[in-house]
Amino acid sequence: MTRGSLLVDHIGELVTNDGRDGDPLGVRRDAALLVEDGRVAWVGPARYAPAADRRVDAGGAAVLPGFVDSHAHLVFAGDRAAEFAARMAGEPYTGGGIRTTVGATRAASDDDLRTTVGRLRAEMLRQGTTTAEIKSGYGLTVADEARSLRIAAEFTDDTTFLGAHVVPAEYADRPDDYVGLVCGPMLAAAAPYARWIDVFCERGAFDADHARAILACGQAAGLGLRLHANQLGPGPGVRLGVELGAASVDHCTHLTDADIDALAGSETVATLLPGAEFSTRSPYPDARRLLDAGVTVALATDCNPGSSYTSSMPFCVALAVREMRMTPAEAVWAATAGGAAALRRTDVGRLTPGSRADLIILDAPSHLHLAYRPGVPLIRQVLHNGVPR
Ligand code: NIG
Ligand code: FE
Repeated sequence: MTRGSLLVDHIGELVTNDGRDGDPLGVRRDAALLVEDGRVAWVGPARYAPAADRRVDAGGAAVLPGFVDSHAHLVFAGDRAAEFAARMAGEPYTGGGIRTTVGATRAASDDDLRTTVGRLRAEMLRQGTTTAEIKSGYGLTVADEARSLRIAAEFTDDTTFLGAHVVPAEYADRPDDYVGLVCGPMLAAAAPYARWIDVFCERGAFDADHARAILACGQAAGLGLRLHANQLGPGPGVRLGVELGAASVDHCTHLTDADIDALAGSETVATLLPGAEFSTRSPYPDARRLLDAGVTVALATDCNPGSSYTSSMPFCVALAVREMRMTPAEAVWAATAGGAAALRRTDVGRLTPGSRADLIILDAPSHLHLAYRPGVPLIRQVLHNGVPR
């Protein structure tokens, strides 16, 4: 018996994502899992379970890896409920409201921003998210982007510099100057707190030339690459991301055959954000086309006050199954192992010896229930780094 060990016992269905026997979810029945020092130490049949200091009885329920939400914008102030209501009455989403949130965020104190990130991160954890990426992108000055990332870094290792979210109003007539600011002093101030750099490559935000320049600067500063691409219409973003070896291209709502071909032969993950299509009443991305072409797909919330104010991965799983024709198994994989792939992490998104003991005990016998029982709080218990939360 190892001191401080914890046995999760009587697991009816254990999703390991070990890919064993051609089953991507690596499901094991009547299983147990041993946690030591915050890591998974052993997985196997319950009848062979080793002794441990403490025991959590899963009572025959399903156990999954904690969700990996690889795309979230949590550092902001204010909300845009009125913009949502206008959309539901027929207004289109254009991204124009980003500047409203930029104004509110600049005016907020550090403590206000920290409180909001903490509240949303806690909300995520209650819904089973044990790893979350957090972006800046509502500051858009050197000081405001740096403080957004400094605060984000208090909550996650996966922080993303999104100074190239939109061109702020004060640079509206000189976007080249803004790109210079992002690549120069803003990147220098942001990079110490950031692991990733992201650009919103879209008509009305940044074109391919600007995106390429910004990503190149970020890469030279040691940051990994990600991209908001092909959200509001077709465009060059997805192919640019693949060409530059980005870890992930996110949204992927409007794809051509050439985009899909590029993704299929690449290491770049296509991250789908169905909360955004839900909340902007837009057509959903064609997940089936991506999956059938062999593209690695992740699901994430895109949690932000404009286009997708949900922190719920179970909601995204349900949307992916119902609206994007992903199977429940594909959706659960995309929300766990897929998110880990999008963040190039091998320590999360799976429950195999050596991985972090980040797991969810469901109030249900199977992962199928996440989509089958939408809107129901099915997360009975979460272990984060082996600690019950
Ligand atoms: O991922 N598309 C760009 N950025 C966010 C939306 C930001 C906002 O509307 O405030 C997104 O959907
Ligand atoms: Fe986003």
